[in-house]
Amino acid sequence: IRSLVSSTQTSSITTMEEENVGTVKQQLAELFKISLKDTLPEDITAEPLIEASGGKFGSDYQCNNAMSLWSRLKGKSSKFKGPPAVGQAIKASLPESEMIESTSVAGPGFVNIVLSKKWIAESIQNMLKKGIKIWAPRLNVKRAVVDFSSPNIAKEMHVGHLRSTIIGDTLARMLEFSNVEVLRRNHVGDWGTQFGMLIEYLFEEFPNWEEIGEQAIGDLQVFYKKSKQRFDEDPDFKEKAQQAVVSLQGSKDENDRYRKAWTKICEISRKEFQQVYERLKVDLEERGESFYNPHIAGVLKGLEGLIEESQGAQVISIKGKNIPLIVVKSDGGYNYASTDLTALWYRLNIEKAEWIIYVTDVGQQMHFEMVFSAAKLAGWLPADEKLCPYPKTNHVGFGLVLGDDGKRFRTRSSEVVRLVDLLDEAKLRSKLALEERGRAAEWTEEELDETAEAVGYGAVKYADLKNNRLTNYTFSFDQMLSDKGNTAVYLLYAHARICSIIRKSGRDLEELKMTGTIVLDHVDERGLGLHLLQFAEVVEDACTNLLPNVLCEYLYNLSENFTKFYSNCQVVGSEEETSRLLLCEATAVVMRKCFHLLGIEPVYKL
Ligand code: ARG
Repeated sequence: IRSLVSSTQTSSITTMEEENVGTVKQQLAELFKISLKDTLPEDITAEPLIEASGGKFGSDYQCNNAMSLWSRLKGKSSKFKGPPAVGQAIKASLPESEMIESTSVAGPGFVNIVLSKKWIAESIQNMLKKGIKIWAPRLNVKRAVVDFSSPNIAKEMHVGHLRSTIIGDTLARMLEFSNVEVLRRNHVGDWGTQFGMLIEYLFEEFPNWEEIGEQAIGDLQVFYKKSKQRFDEDPDFKEKAQQAVVSLQGSKDENDRYRKAWTKICEISRKEFQQVYERLKVDLEERGESFYNPHIAGVLKGLEGLIEESQGAQVISIKGKNIPLIVVKSDGGYNYASTDLTALWYRLNIEKAEWIIYVTDVGQQMHFEMVFSAAKLAGWLPADEKLCPYPKTNHVGFGLVLGDDGKRFRTRSSEVVRLVDLLDEAKLRSKLALEERGRAAEWTEEELDETAEAVGYGAVKYADLKNNRLTNYTFSFDQMLSDKGNTAVYLLYAHARICSIIRKSGRDLEELKMTGTIVLDHVDERGLGLHLLQFAEVVEDACTNLLPNVLCEYLYNLSENFTKFYSNCQVVGSEEETSRLLLCEATAVVMRKCFHLLGIEPVYKL
């Protein structure tokens, strides 16, 4: 077994599956699997525990199996005198590999691994030749649903929905990069009781409702607010609105007056949402609450054994929760939970998704816990994740967006901030900054506009994604549009600068990639090279823990590593020019992939 790793790298296999080399961790794990098998008695098996060590003990990675194995081996085998001896044995039976320069055992049996710089260099060259996809992490999931954005018809699409849209899109992109088929689902709130009052109000306001165009209705939110006011103040209206919901939900006839009004209202909202998605370049398939409606009765029938009656409602009791999950209200109507249970059933049984991810604010955590617990009780999801990890569900919660007063982010007149206004302002501000730098004179109007959008929208997205999603963060244009510190602007500049180094060298990049060799003799070259190689591992980590901020942190560190390399290693005009230009290009490629996964458009000059 000369090398499991190099054999897949050097052969000329063409299919993507086989070209994919996996992460460094995965490649090391393959080697350690062999040595663990050799080391351990037949009745003891263990998966390799490999971690990047960040330079501790002068190593790049560590294998941390010895300690936990020792407690299992004690008394069973006299071969080992303690954890260090287990570590020594693991090290001794490690197959030879081009990956590894040296290993040593430290402390309580950690096996320290120093990667070969030649191998690091070759891996990067290989990536430059074949594309970054060969580094994609391998996940154990084939198909996933990401349920995100999900605004409500006729209500405002607020900053909370912006967070869901941005976080959900990134998670979907990272999973897609990892070869998972992702069903991007917009679970639009298009079936709530709000329609009763809204339709009733519009009928009153516009007796010739059928004839008027969309323009006349204009801003639906205004009508929504007015109808809500009527609903709260006028008992007669309330009565009529409730009747309207019944008529709407009971109607099967497409030409029914209520049904047609509903369709029209959804149409208007949809167009507004679509504008935001287009600007943010977010791809989503609408599968609103109404989509699942025809399946609810059937799904609940299948849950009969779990459902009991409580105060006139149909409920499922969940162990450890004070209140049960209501699946049919006392008036006989369905609710948010009935739809979500049905949607989950549909995603598991019809769409055959193995991983279902819901992105909403943390306020909905309880709702999802209850729905997931009910699904476990129903036997749709495995009861013990340790024994059977799939299919699985996750609620990806996030915190609030705050204004500079530390309270929920509002406009000056304490209205909910409209998404489109935020995006407009971000673009405007970046355009002004570009003009201040004299770009208006050098660039076409189109270039100026495109760059302002990339920078402005990128800044809004990055400011959101760089924080751990569970924490609240303060929305500040000044901060997110600063070209210093951990911001999209700083990172986009860093990328553009690398592109300009390559451009100014006057060398033919394609030719360099095919014929040039990377050498990592300087510590900062090696440091940058290793960091580049760890990209896929970080994506894997961000996917499995559903934490996009991990990727932001990586990207920021990458640009710091590059700066260190660039200040200590002369590129253009040096003896190592070819190798160093290739390192510049590899950095730019990885940065672009990070931008892409974060939904940010890279720019090539700034
Ligand atoms: N429309 C809901 C809201 O705005 C979010 C829906 C989230 N997805 C779900 N399957 N419940 O709060």
